[in-house]
Amino acid sequence: MQRPLSGCLRSRTRRAFFKKGIAAGVAAAGVSLFTERDATSAPHENNKKLTRGDAAMLRFAAAAEIIESDLWNQYNELGGVPDPEVPGGSGNAIYTSKLTNLDDDFPIYIHDNTDDEISHASFINAYLVAKGAEPANLEAFRTLPGSTATGSSGQPRLTNLTELTVDTSWWTRYRSSASNPDLNPAATFPQAVPGLNDGKFTAIPRTNSDLSPDRHIQAIANTAVLHMATIEQGGTSLYPAMAQRATSTEVLRIMISIGPTETMHFQTWSDKAGAALSRPLAPLTDPTNGLTFPDLNSAPFDGEDFSTNLIMPEPCPFLSPDLPKCSIIRPTETQGIAMGVVNFLAAMGLFSGQSDSFFELMTQLAAEADAATRKG
Ligand SMILES: [Fe+2]
Ligand SMILES: [Fe+2]
Repeated sequence: MQRPLSGCLRSRTRRAFFKKGIAAGVAAAGVSLFTERDATSAPHENNKKLTRGDAAMLRFAAAAEIIESDLWNQYNELGGVPDPEVPGGSGNAIYTSKLTNLDDDFPIYIHDNTDDEISHASFINAYLVAKGAEPANLEAFRTLPGSTATGSSGQPRLTNLTELTVDTSWWTRYRSSASNPDLNPAATFPQAVPGLNDGKFTAIPRTNSDLSPDRHIQAIANTAVLHMATIEQGGTSLYPAMAQRATSTEVLRIMISIGPTETMHFQTWSDKAGAALSRPLAPLTDPTNGLTFPDLNSAPFDGEDFSTNLIMPEPCPFLSPDLPKCSIIRPTETQGIAMGVVNFLAAMGLFSGQSDSFFELMTQLAAEADAATRKG
């Protein structure tokens, strides 16, 4: 449902309760965490060191959240609401107007998603430090150039939003009642936007030249919303998949408390993606490259596997085909999940231009997280 932007901007003040900065976050939160846990956590958890596996899984999660923060910051600079809470950039009026064609509240949703990711990265790293474990640090790799369009801060980036290949098969994976990739890894799920999975596309205006013609910049905004949902469905699977191997109940609590916020992000963006894939915006073809966003409510796409208003997870097989179908997050297979996420992000082109040492570090973090085992 759409609401006036002004009403949404007022509601943004809820975030004031949770204001925090990345720079101050690790040190300051580390101190307050000890104080608060003394009062609120089970005593046996307070002074326990993390197992090597728990620390590795949280360190990988922190790295993933730093990556998310970087890409969301780029969206916020150009199409969100830059402010003291999520600073950087000054907005791009034309790009923002195309995003608001999808939903009037789009800019504030970008802002709040960005704020959430920054808080996830800051919290998990602070928790690791408070437990005497090493945090994740990707600062050395903030080297990519990013957008030079009006509104961009021009600061160096960790991630590349300009050469994306977006796998939109989650659209039908969550609408299918027949298959669950955990039970049937060979199952294939049709793409919602086949063109996005077959080429390289920008999700932000790279320069001011991308601001016209009209259908080109609308296609860039459409690419953004499909990319946002694709990123967030990845986080939606990552946390429940890792949580199954947590040893500490507090680490388990962190994972099952952050994970569902990723699902809230995914649900929001999958709903907004429906606006790009239905009338009056769809069908739309970018005249510069032929990328087409189909109307999924019309033939040949019409039907339950594509319909844009079926945004709740369809019940599907879970654990055993002998059990009743169940509405669930999928996949949640825990084995190899971290490396799977790194491969998923790399295949998307999110790290295009990154150095070999960046891939080596991410591979190492993922391998350590995937080696974690739940201790009795
Ligand atoms: Fe997150
Ligand atoms: Fe997220």
